[in-house]
Amino acid sequence: MDLSADHIKTLHKYELRILQSIEYLMNRYSWVPEEELVRNTRLSANEVHFRLSKLMKKGMVRYSQVPYPGYCLVFNGYDTIAITHLVKKGIISSLGDCIGEGKESRVYEALGTGPIILKLHRIGQRSFQTVRRGRSYLPEKQHCPWVFASHYSAEQEYLALNALKSHVKVPTPLFMNRNVIAMAYIAGDRLADCSLENPRKAFDDIIAQVGIAYRLGYIHGDLSEYNVMFDGEEIWIIDWPQWVSPDHENAAEILNHDLETIIKFFHRRYRFSSDMNEVRSLVTGC
Ligand SMILES: Nc1ncnc2c1ncn2[C@@H]1O[C@H](COP(=O)(O)OP(=O)(O)OP(=O)(O)O)[C@@H](O)[C@H]1O
Ligand SMILES: [Mg+2]
Repeated sequence: MDLSADHIKTLHKYELRILQSIEYLMNRYSWVPEEELVRNTRLSANEVHFRLSKLMKKGMVRYSQVPYPGYCLVFNGYDTIAITHLVKKGIISSLGDCIGEGKESRVYEALGTGPIILKLHRIGQRSFQTVRRGRSYLPEKQHCPWVFASHYSAEQEYLALNALKSHVKVPTPLFMNRNVIAMAYIAGDRLADCSLENPRKAFDDIIAQVGIAYRLGYIHGDLSEYNVMFDGEEIWIIDWPQWVSPDHENAAEILNHDLETIIKFFHRRYRFSSDMNEVRSLVTGC
């Protein structure tokens, strides 16, 4: 079930209290027993039971009988805690539609002082094993690795956006809480979905931006026509959680893959060729 503005608007304060309590108790339990929630929230057993059934209907928590009866947050619940925090902080006043659903994130429009974007990082949850594979930073005894992994992914992207915002065309980051980043809205389309009048200029701009980011210590790691936007005048590079540093052991390979993907796209769509070695030395300066 998708998270909707209505789900959040109609959230009762006790439901939020229970969500926060499950989040806290998930440090100790894989599945949080109902009596622990009663103790922790200081609500009556009946109230907790009633509110839990509402939260399950909204797809925010999950119940399991095995290995023992208990409750666990799922993404809708975790996202809700973060978004409610953004509302309290005055970062957003309303949540709009979901405009993008990737493998590892959901992107929503929202209203703050102007139109903004909320990116909800969602790593894993299908299987704990899948989340752990390839993510060496996950602590061994993490009960809910998807919570940790999603928060970490948001932190990585927020870090890059902050480091790059004054130098490279990236969306300005506004705020981050848990797995959610609020950032400036770019009124444009992805390169994959638009037709450029001056593709050579756009290509040169992308390579120049990639070069500046490289010199600041950031290689995108997932550069493609889906992660570059064009607003009619300028190009913007989005989607930075998987960046690596030029010191990374696979940096050369990752940078080559980024550049090849962009070169191939421009060749396929606009029929112009670029020399990989030349482009690479423009980026690295050697
Ligand atoms: N700042 C922004 N302004 C306008 N639209 C945005 C912005 N950020 C993201 N989008 C839209 O949302 C879509 C998805 O965003 P993004 O590429 O960051 O995540 P993703 O591709 O879903 O992530 P993943 O690659 O992990 O699956 C983009 O293709 C773009 O259409
Ligand atoms: Mg993307």
